Amino acid sequence: MCGIVGYVGYRNAVPVLIKGLEKLEYRGYDSAGIACVDHQKGSLSVIKEKGKLGILKEKLGDFTIEAHIGIGHTRWATHGEPSRANAHPHVDASGKIALIHNGIIENYAVIKNALQKKKVRFLSQTDTEVGVNLIGSYYRKSPKLFDAVKRAVGEMHGFFSFVLFSKDDPDTLIVYKRSNPLVIGLGHGENFAASDVTALLPYTRQVIYLEDEDLAVITAKEISIYSLKEKAWIKRHPSTVHWDASQAQKQGFPHFMLKEMYEQPEVLKNILIKRIQKNGEIFFDTVDRKFQKRLRKIKRVSMISCGTAYHAGMVGSVAMGKYARIPCQTEVSSEFRYGTPILNPKDLVVLITQSGETADTLAALREAKDKGAVTLAVVNVVGSTIAREADAVIYTHAGPEIGVASTKAYIAQLATLLLLSFYMARIRKTIPATDLKALLREFKKMPEHCAKVLKESKKFDRCAEKHYTRRNFLYLGRGCNYPTALEGALKLKEISYAHAHGYAAGEMKHGPIALIDHEQPVICIAPDSLTYDKMISNIQEILARDGIVIAIGTEGQKDLEKMSDDFFSIPKVPEILSPLLTVIPLQFFAYKVAVLNGRDVDQPRNLAKSVTVE
Ligand code: M6R
Repeated sequence: MCGIVGYVGYRNAVPVLIKGLEKLEYRGYDSAGIACVDHQKGSLSVIKEKGKLGILKEKLGDFTIEAHIGIGHTRWATHGEPSRANAHPHVDASGKIALIHNGIIENYAVIKNALQKKKVRFLSQTDTEVGVNLIGSYYRKSPKLFDAVKRAVGEMHGFFSFVLFSKDDPDTLIVYKRSNPLVIGLGHGENFAASDVTALLPYTRQVIYLEDEDLAVITAKEISIYSLKEKAWIKRHPSTVHWDASQAQKQGFPHFMLKEMYEQPEVLKNILIKRIQKNGEIFFDTVDRKFQKRLRKIKRVSMISCGTAYHAGMVGSVAMGKYARIPCQTEVSSEFRYGTPILNPKDLVVLITQSGETADTLAALREAKDKGAVTLAVVNVVGSTIAREADAVIYTHAGPEIGVASTKAYIAQLATLLLLSFYMARIRKTIPATDLKALLREFKKMPEHCAKVLKESKKFDRCAEKHYTRRNFLYLGRGCNYPTALEGALKLKEISYAHAHGYAAGEMKHGPIALIDHEQPVICIAPDSLTYDKMISNIQEILARDGIVIAIGTEGQKDLEKMSDDFFSIPKVPEILSPLLTVIPLQFFAYKVAVLNGRDVDQPRNLAKSVTVE
């Protein structure tokens, strides 16, 4: 969380920082700020405001600054409420060093206490201001910023990344990374640093992903990296980013979320082209023979992730059990990592994450590696920390997802996990070749089916118009569509702020049925499946209590259509593939309800796209 960007070079830094922050705002939007050294006056300017970037931009209209070095920040509050005082950048007591920060300095209180005893005054409640003042206290003793940072970070606990400079040396940025993402962008006569490559794409595609404990010194012409782990100056090789910058624009859609929903058929198509070879074999370019050999020995699988990615893991787990016949458990990362998991080299731990930076999932990965398990990351963001640290990675290739509510990344995770399960089934010989062939034939039709469901979206709009003022929704599903119920409920609550609860339909009688009356909408996910009749019984029970039934079924289910107040159908597909379609009307429903309530769809309150704190 928090977006950070730094620039040093021949351009005016201010517009570069603002453009970068526009791309990073999805990481947090409680406040925004920049700091730079005015080229003419040599003075340090810090301009920051509470609220979204737009407010800072307006404020910047009052200034004319020409600067060739600067840092910018967009905040997701951890220590201290969203306010101007707590906004970054923070400056040390001498007024020389400006710093932006992503993450948490866990022992900030102890350091703050010690600094206060030395008469350092604090203006904010943040851990960041403590960090910059600790650096400042060492800098005052010996004016080498690099040495001061090196010494200070050695005393700080927690996970964080920094970008900073001193007005004494307005040609040099210092950056430091511990766990939280930081990438350097390479230019000609200019260089950049950011928490996310999207901020760099307008300027460069050549990047260096820093490793943990890297401390880099960046000027317009040079980048030097010192590894605190290796205690040596080291070389890190640049990589080229292949993302299309236009994918990170709205392209005429009112919201990123809507645009990303409409990209889903294309995402599916790309995955299928990449993963299914002409001879019908499933292929993962990043899984080599050696790793395949390790996969053959696997006796148990754990799917570990958070939020939407957790729901994708649940569907993956159903497929892994059903087709590859391997015991498979799903757990949220935060529970897994503190649950003293019992693991050995025959365990495969699959970490599923869009951003590849989620703190709990990263910690779960490290825990799994420590315990000797085989780790496989299923990640969207190329080069992210989890992608780099796992034993192997499979990229989901959804392209940049900017809307905080995950949509196309979910579809990409589902498709990838289903293919992974079929792949495991193939190498374990638990599925006959003809059955797999038939399944993949159906899979290849999914982009077309997905486009059809999207086209019929207008119907979902009308249903949302009927119900958008309600404050409570219940979502029910079974089998591989129980996770769809959870995902539908999560989408609605995160962007519309209505209470929505996902439940396994069979559990309804064990409690939630008490909620049902003539004002309770129940969204029932009941496509053609093994448990269809059971879903129908659940729906009868809801109707008997006067509840409102909104059903997602399969084309031709006349009985279900008659029973429902609103009915949306998906094309007939094998049950295991149905979650790729049933979730789409639920995304639309959530989107429309949020819009009708005037919510900020792409940047819902209190949330951030990538949760890099525990
Ligand atoms: O980047 P990750 O996939 O690890 O993120 C996990 C969750 O934070 C994320 O899916 C979150 O639940 C989304 N806002 C849901 O739409």
